[in-house]
Amino acid sequence: MRVFELEFPNPVLLASGVLGISSYLFKRIEKLGAGGIVTKSIGISPKKGYENPTIVELDYGFLNAMGLPNPGVDYFLEEIKDLSLKIPFIVSIFGKDSEEFVKIAKKLENYCDALELNLSCPHAESYGMAIGQDEKIVYKITKDVKKSVEIPVIVKLTPNVNDIVRIARSAENGGADGITAINTLKALAIDIDMEKPILKNVYGGLSGRCIKPVALRCVYDIYKNVKIPVIGVGGIASPEDAIEFIMCGASLVGIGSAARDLNVFKDISEGVENFLKKKKYTLKEIIGKATKNI
Ligand code: SIN
Repeated sequence: MRVFELEFPNPVLLASGVLGISSYLFKRIEKLGAGGIVTKSIGISPKKGYENPTIVELDYGFLNAMGLPNPGVDYFLEEIKDLSLKIPFIVSIFGKDSEEFVKIAKKLENYCDALELNLSCPHAESYGMAIGQDEKIVYKITKDVKKSVEIPVIVKLTPNVNDIVRIARSAENGGADGITAINTLKALAIDIDMEKPILKNVYGGLSGRCIKPVALRCVYDIYKNVKIPVIGVGGIASPEDAIEFIMCGASLVGIGSAARDLNVFKDISEGVENFLKKKKYTLKEIIGKATKNI
């Protein structure tokens, strides 16, 4: 399956932010049947992240606020410089402004197949959603990064906005090759014995099955209004979930919370393939199908 001029053996990717950043782990994810890898977000310099607790398991999903911990782009380059994968390797990056994004993008350009701009972390003060909610900033960062590298640039959007289509259009107008929708929803949880928020950072990002309907709505709306391909992310845990996203317009899907079971890539991609065989469809034929059958 060809998307962003890259060849994906199947449409089921590891979504950003879930697992670590070691080359060993990326090789393992490839062996386990992922169609592509999106790394944890990498910044210009090392970042420790927030203090614990950084994650809460809820009955219906997860709430996390890690604080974008990462070793910085230079260390990350050392880690991946000899990495050789047969599946597309997409590096997620974050920065505080377009200059920082461009610097990181240029350093990584020769070591990955595409970049995903994280404009959507729901609780980082001057990063992420704080910039991804402003369509002018989204346009500028996308345009500046696009101008400075030759590889595809994908923009990951936040659902924490009034109108996600407007932001998706800004990314498209800035030259983005694709959109990833969605990052987590800003949320919190309370410990009633301690009588305070559970997360050290108070606010976190809600992920897992409970956000699937929100993510589907975003993918559906974006697909109907932009021309570039969409990667659907948000609560996907089964082949049926993935098919729903594809029928809403996703060309590829990303697995986040459900990736704690590493068999999930194979299970979902085989399930999608069986569905297509049974219905006598190609994958391409069902992309966006549900947006047309109204
Ligand atoms: C985190 O590191 O806290 C989450 C990153 C993200 O939501 O983009």
